[in-house]
Amino acid sequence: MNMRHNFGRRAKTFAAALAVGALALTGCSGGGAGSGDGGAGNGDDEIKIGVAMPTQTSERWIADGDAVKTALEDEGYTVDLQFANDDIPTQTQQIDQMITNGADILVIAAIDGTALSSQLDAAGAANIPVLSYDRLIRDNENVDFYVSFDNYKVGVAQGTALLHGLGLVDENGTEVADRPTGPLNIELFGGSPDDNNAGFFFEGAMDTIQPFIDDGTLVVQSGQTDFDTVATLRWSQEAAQKRMEDLITSTYAGGSTELAGVLSPFDGISRGVITALQGAGYGTSLEDGLPVVTGQDAEIASVKLINDGVQQSTIFKDTRTLAAQAVEAVKAMAEGNEPEANDTETYDNGVKVVPSYLLEVETIYQDNIQEKIIDSGYYTEEEVNSGVAG
Ligand code: GAL
Repeated sequence: MNMRHNFGRRAKTFAAALAVGALALTGCSGGGAGSGDGGAGNGDDEIKIGVAMPTQTSERWIADGDAVKTALEDEGYTVDLQFANDDIPTQTQQIDQMITNGADILVIAAIDGTALSSQLDAAGAANIPVLSYDRLIRDNENVDFYVSFDNYKVGVAQGTALLHGLGLVDENGTEVADRPTGPLNIELFGGSPDDNNAGFFFEGAMDTIQPFIDDGTLVVQSGQTDFDTVATLRWSQEAAQKRMEDLITSTYAGGSTELAGVLSPFDGISRGVITALQGAGYGTSLEDGLPVVTGQDAEIASVKLINDGVQQSTIFKDTRTLAAQAVEAVKAMAEGNEPEANDTETYDNGVKVVPSYLLEVETIYQDNIQEKIIDSGYYTEEEVNSGVAG
């Protein structure tokens, strides 16, 4: 049972503050800068949202940070956006600071989903609602809402993309009639073991791939199939490259044994894997023998690789829609309401099931970059061609 009742308690404060904020925005109010209210609500005229993002080394999170900040500011909120360089102490310190500075609501994409307990205890004590952004924060009751994509479906999409690249299924996952019977060698990569999403991705992908392993079509030649063995701490591109190089040495005779595909759960990992494969002489592009490598996030560097026929696919998580959903949740919280959920069963954080809003994803291949990525305005054609955003 959830003992917290933030939403009702804070409703009047926030509604009043919002009204003043709106007036201030239209220039009709004399309301000056707020002094911060420690989250307790005391008539302060601004609503402060602390936004904690994991890292700027991945372009994906920069896009998330920008999108969330802009959308919240458009709604009249004051935003304190921080990136933590994938360093847990930096992130805990940033969140502590946000609370000290009077954040009214926290939006957090955790580096380590289990490392924020004292921050969440403090947020709970100050009645500050917490929105878990994309990654579920675990082991604490003071997580009020979760916005993300359907992470199991992301894994299914990754598994399907791999099978599709190997000619085993069509784009919808339906088995191709005269498909290859193998054996085709594949290797598996997982995400960061401290990220709740990584398990969902792997589970979804393996549920999809496993039948083809069971019937002998696919062979994980290294024998490394359990999540803990294939996981990649902090989603590190370098660690992934190193593991792929080690696999090539230990299992693929330095590059002379055939390798058909690699399951990768994130574009950074994909690029590390591709660098290792290219370095071992597996070809420079899919056309000249490079194994099928999947991905996730539609990072610009990987969209370019897909466009160039190097990386086979990625899963497009439109950060604009995630940011918009996060803002909807923040608005509901600020008005003292429960954000609208579309899943109230799946995301148990170890203490409670966190009500969630899950978005759908799309798989990107070379032939739908124009439609899904460029025509939708996510990246321009120039960005796709150069591999650099902005
Ligand atoms: C996950 C996220 C993925 C990817 C990965 C690496 O939590 O769901 O989309 O971004 O982190 O940053």
